[in-house]
Amino acid sequence: QSLEQQVRSIVATHRGDRGALLPILHSIQSELGYVDPAVIPILADELNLSRADVHGVVTFYHDFRSTPAGRTTVRICRAEACQAMGANALAGHAQARLGVAFGETTPDGAVTLEQTFCFGNCALAPAVQVGDRLYGRVDADRLDGLLEVDA
Ligand code: FES
Repeated sequence: QSLEQQVRSIVATHRGDRGALLPILHSIQSELGYVDPAVIPILADELNLSRADVHGVVTFYHDFRSTPAGRTTVRICRAEACQAMGANALAGHAQARLGVAFGETTPDGAVTLEQTFCFGNCALAPAVQVGDRLYGRVDADRLDGLLEVDA
């Protein structure tokens, strides 16, 4: 199935939704892994929007990635309880260590770094998720260890 066919069939499942662009983008990201810039003209055509409008929405919401994610996604909580326990320093450490900013993937495709705002794990702040596993009370050393194992 071509990208265009996949996108058109995702759009078809949202027919009749008002303001369907956001749910469609979420479906595209969850089914295809990312929002390829090539989907923008297809969505513009399907939804009778301008390409600029679609592009504006895709770039406004930081949830959407334009490239495939790395093999492992590392998410660092930046919300209040974790911030109070040093999440900002941890975030800086992760970016320096991986050499990427939030939302980016290491050049070898191993790790995508993302930030999240509360995992509901505040009692064990600062919280970090590596792949599907959630870790609490993560400091820089522990994060380094997690990255070695998983990256
Ligand atoms: Fe980080 Fe809730 S604030 S898990």
